[in-house]
Amino acid sequence: MSDTVALARRFPRGFLFGTATAAYQIEGGHDADGKGPSIWDTFCRQPGAISTGETGDIACDHYHRWREDVALQSDLGCNAYRLSISWPRVIPDGSGAVNEAGLTFYDRLVDELLGKGIRPFVTLYHWDLPQALQERGGWSSPETVAAFGRYADVVSRRLGDRVGDWMTLNEPEVVAYAGHWVGVHAPGVRDFRTAVGVSHHLLLAHRDAARAVRAAHRDARVGIALNLSPCDPASDTGDDAEAARRMDGYLNRWFLDPLFGRGYPKDMLELYRPYFDRGDELVGYDGALDFLGVNYYARRIVRAGAGPLRADRVDPEGAEHTAIGWEVHPASFRKLLLRVHEDYAPRHVYVTENGAAYDDAIVDDRVDDPARVSFLARHFDAAATAIAEGVPLRGYFIWTLMDNFEWAHGTSKRFGIVHTDYATQRRRVKASGEWYRGLIATHRGARATAAAK
Ligand code: FCB
Repeated sequence: MSDTVALARRFPRGFLFGTATAAYQIEGGHDADGKGPSIWDTFCRQPGAISTGETGDIACDHYHRWREDVALQSDLGCNAYRLSISWPRVIPDGSGAVNEAGLTFYDRLVDELLGKGIRPFVTLYHWDLPQALQERGGWSSPETVAAFGRYADVVSRRLGDRVGDWMTLNEPEVVAYAGHWVGVHAPGVRDFRTAVGVSHHLLLAHRDAARAVRAAHRDARVGIALNLSPCDPASDTGDDAEAARRMDGYLNRWFLDPLFGRGYPKDMLELYRPYFDRGDELVGYDGALDFLGVNYYARRIVRAGAGPLRADRVDPEGAEHTAIGWEVHPASFRKLLLRVHEDYAPRHVYVTENGAAYDDAIVDDRVDDPARVSFLARHFDAAATAIAEGVPLRGYFIWTLMDNFEWAHGTSKRFGIVHTDYATQRRRVKASGEWYRGLIATHRGARATAAAK
């Protein structure tokens, strides 16, 4: 039996095989049909913010090529798709008038997906905050939390009759800390106190948006996509173990504990005391999730160090890396899935992102990307093992459908299973896309045979 056949059989009937994208990374159409500017439109125009000097003004031009991009997914055999909605396309200044043309775009996209048997999973916030809200304080301000609740209401009323699966936020840790501590993402703030405050507002925004979506549609399933990683100590000294525990608190528990009704972790409240004293605002927090979305790329190895976390990341010697410098470590993926299951028992789990950047080349009109095929095969294998061990994993979204605008790296990092030629906007399915098509077709075939017996 080939490896793919054996792998395909390990996923249960009805398993969702999809890809994930985000509005700013693919849509382009940055000022089309009444869309307002987002913080990413602004950030990309700051000299030095994007390593290639690019903007997402055009990106994959998905705003004009969405039909083709849905056909591509259907061609791959995908039965689910994770997309995000651009808030400033729907409400250009974030809190005021609704832009009908923006809603119409998503309306048609959802209909097209459903027409092809592809179940849409919609993320409300994948980082493109309306610039007008940023000018009034952005995620540091409670006004943004309120505006997000209203935006969730507007979108879910419009799409909720056809979209059943919602994610409020993508990666609140990255929004808070890459955006407001390290400053490598929009809005480019560099202040730890601000960042912790933002993480708190994001959790409140999640709660309010979840309520709004459920109020609009009683049967809606609401989740969140968190970037999670096992944090392993660099050595067996007590100091490194404690540093790894702090890193785990910062990255994983700070979000998971409240979302699963436990409030903020006490050790982290203690550590953050010089920066944050609003933990009691979460008393009675109901972040109730119908599912947990896990974005996994790599583990973290940690040693005692400096900064507010008194911890530093270490790059393991001799490790295998992708072209963006992230370690390839599928065993940590299985460990992570088991850990969330054992420690938090989410009803359902989806892998809402997993994938890899490689320096792909077109040779004879083909993109052969064996390293990505190997990456994906090993991570799907880890996920299948986690399922066999009891994790209620219901679907897997590869990051990403097609090469796109990779934030601060511009288009220099390619994560797609489909190649994007930015000069012509031609899409070419890579060998990894063919591999995925084969996995999905084999899964369906194997399941159909099993059912007929
Ligand atoms: C995640 C983001 C996604 C993409 C991948 C590579 O952190 O959610 O938009 O950039 O990384």
